[in-house]
Amino acid sequence: MLVTSALPYANGPIHLGYVLEAVQTDVWVRFQKLRGHECYYVCADDTHGTPIMLKAQAEGVTPEQLIDLVNVEHQRDLADMLIGFDNFGSTHSAENKAVCERMYLILRDGGHIERRSVRQAYDDDAKMFLPDRYVKGICPVCATADQYGDSCEHCGSTYTPADLKSPISVVSGTPPVWRESEHYFFRLSSFEQSLNKWVKSGAVQAGVARKLEEWFSQGLRDWDISRDSPYFGFEIPDAPGKYFYVWFDAPIGYLGSLTQLCARTNLKFDDFLAADSTAELHHFIGKDILYFHTLFWPAVLQAAGMRRPTAVHAHGFLTINGQKMSKSRGTFITARRYLQSFPPEYLRYYFAAKLGPGIDDLDLNLDEFTTRLNSDIVGKLVNIASRCAGFITKNHAGSMARALPEPALYAEFVTAGKAIAEAYETRDTAGAIRDIMALADRANQYIDLKKPWTLAKQPENAAEVQAICTQGLNLFRVLMIYLQPVLPVMAAKSRHFFREQNWTWTDAAAPLLGTAINPYEPLATRLDAKQVAQLVEPEAPQTAPKAAPVTAPVSHQGGASDAASLAAAAAVEGNMISIDEFLRVDLRVAKILGADLVTGADKLLKLRLDVGELGTREIFAGIRGAYDPAALVGRLIVVVANLEPRKMRFGVSEGMMLAAGPGGKDIFVLSPDSGAAPGMRVK
Ligand code: 2FM
Ligand code: ZN
Repeated sequence: MLVTSALPYANGPIHLGYVLEAVQTDVWVRFQKLRGHECYYVCADDTHGTPIMLKAQAEGVTPEQLIDLVNVEHQRDLADMLIGFDNFGSTHSAENKAVCERMYLILRDGGHIERRSVRQAYDDDAKMFLPDRYVKGICPVCATADQYGDSCEHCGSTYTPADLKSPISVVSGTPPVWRESEHYFFRLSSFEQSLNKWVKSGAVQAGVARKLEEWFSQGLRDWDISRDSPYFGFEIPDAPGKYFYVWFDAPIGYLGSLTQLCARTNLKFDDFLAADSTAELHHFIGKDILYFHTLFWPAVLQAAGMRRPTAVHAHGFLTINGQKMSKSRGTFITARRYLQSFPPEYLRYYFAAKLGPGIDDLDLNLDEFTTRLNSDIVGKLVNIASRCAGFITKNHAGSMARALPEPALYAEFVTAGKAIAEAYETRDTAGAIRDIMALADRANQYIDLKKPWTLAKQPENAAEVQAICTQGLNLFRVLMIYLQPVLPVMAAKSRHFFREQNWTWTDAAAPLLGTAINPYEPLATRLDAKQVAQLVEPEAPQTAPKAAPVTAPVSHQGGASDAASLAAAAAVEGNMISIDEFLRVDLRVAKILGADLVTGADKLLKLRLDVGELGTREIFAGIRGAYDPAALVGRLIVVVANLEPRKMRFGVSEGMMLAAGPGGKDIFVLSPDSGAAPGMRVK
C-alpha cells in the first residue's frame, strides 16, 4: 500500500489543521503496519507557485533558500508530532522534476494537451502575470470594495478579475493591464465517462460522490496547467518561458517522494503505479482540495498510462473552540506552539477520538481536550497499569502469575479487537477509541472489585494479588496494542515495561504469563486547563535579548561566552525572563551518537544526538577545545530541543547544547552516571 497526506505549502509553518490530517493518515498507516501489511507513507513540501516566489522576494532570499529552511521546520514539527513518514521530500526535487516531465510528455504525445490563448491580468510594473487572487477591486455585483479577483467575500458571487471594478495589482498597487498569452490545457473533458465509473467504484466517500455528481452535471472543463515566467516551478520541456502550474506538479510530488523512497530501498516505482498494479494507493486530503484529487489527478494518472487511486479519503476542517482557525482571532495554532507545552500523543488521542469516516468539521474544544485527556488517558488507561504494577515488582520480584484468574474477561478483550480493527480500517477512529475506552472501564471495574491493595495487607493473599494484577496488566497490554497506532510512544514504553520488542495486532490474542516485567514508570501526567487555555492567548512578544544569555550557548554561534561576560549578563537590569518564557524552553537530555570535526571551523564539533521520543538531531557545538570527538560518543548532554533550526555555513543546527564552565578546555557536560535518559525533560 502507498499512502499519502496532502502536501503542506512551503510558505508557512505546520498548523493544527494540517496536524489533524497527518494524524488521521499516520494512525491509519500505523494500523496497517501493525496488522502486518506492507504499507508506505510518503509526503513532501508543496514548494512552487506565485505566493512562495513573492514571499522569498519579500524576505530577500531565493525561493530555494526559503523552501529549504521551511522543509527542515516542517520535517521537525511533523516528526515531533510522531508522524512516521517513510519519505518526506519536496516538489522541488530532481526526482519530482523527472516524473513531471515524463508524465507530461506521455500526456502531450497521447494528444491530451492543447494550446490556447488566454487573456490575463498583467502587472506592467512587476513584469508578471497575476493570479486571480493577486488582483483586488470592487465587486461587480454588490459593489463591496477590496474583493479578490475570483469571488466576493461579501455576496459570494464568483467572477474573473476582468469583471472587477477599479482593479489593482496586489503586487505593485498599480492597475493591471490585460495581455494575451499561450497556455497549455489538459483535456479533462475527455475523461468524464471513465472518471464517473471510477467514482462509482467506491473510490470516494458517499458525501463526496454526491458532490462529484454535481460537478459532472455541470460538465468538466479543460484544465490550464501552465503559467508564464516569472514563476517558481519547473519549466515545461518543449515550452521555454512556460512553467507547470503548481497544482500540476503537486500531486506528482507524491510520486517524486515515492521515487526517493524507491532509490533508498528495494521497492520499485512501477509496482505501485503501473496500470495493472495490485498495490493499493490511498490519498488523505482535506475536503477543500477534492476537485484536484478526484478529477484532475485520476485523469492525469490515466492519461499517463498509470493506475488510478484506490481511494481518496477526505476529512473536514478543524475549528478551534468553535471558531475558524484565524490569526486575528488567535485561533491559528502552530504545531510548534502546541509542542512547546504538551506531549504530541495528547493531541493525537483527542483527534483520533473525534475523527470519523466522513467529511464533517472537527472542533478542538480546549476544555473538552483537557477533560478528555485527564479522564481517558490518566484516569482510565494508565490507571490500570499504575494500580497493578507495584504489587508485582515489589512482592513478586517482577514476575507475573502463571495463569489468569479470569480468562473469560481476557477473551472478551480479544474478541472486541475485531470490531476495533474494523473501525480503524474504515477510518472510524472515534468508534475504535469508544470501544477501547469501554474496555478500559471494564478493566478498572475488575480492579475496583478485587481491591488488590486491601488483599495485599495479608501476606497469605500474595498469590491472589499476583494473579489479579497479572490479569489487570494483561488487560492493559491488550489496550496498549490496540492503541499503538494512536499512541506510539506510550505503546513503546509499555512494551519496554512488558519486556517485549515488537507488537503486531495478533499479539493481543495471548496473555503474558509467568514472564518478568520492568519497574513501572509513569506514562502520562494530568493536563492543566489554565495552561491549555493559553494556546489561544497571544504569544509573548519575541524580543531580542539585551545581553548574552546566562546559560552558555555553545552551539549555533560556535563559541562559549567567558565567565566575566556571563556574570555581566546576569547583572544587566531587565534581563529577567518570566516563568512562562522559561516554560516554553524545551530542555531535554540527549545522548551523543556521533561527534565529528568540522572542516574550516576550529572551535566546532558536529554532534549527532539521540533525543529519545523527539528522534535524532544534528547540532553544531563550540566545544572542540574541551573534548575529543571520540570521547563524547555515548555521553549525555542537555539540549534546547525547541530552538528554531539555524542554517550555518557548515549545515543546519537543530538545537542548542548547554554546558557549564568558563570555556576553552573547561566545558562540562552531564556526568556519565547521572541516571538521565535521552528525551527526558530537564525541568
Ligand atoms: O491545499 C494545499 O495545501 C496543497 N498544498 C495540497 C497539495 S496536495 C497534492 F496534490 F500535492
Ligand atoms: Zn459582492
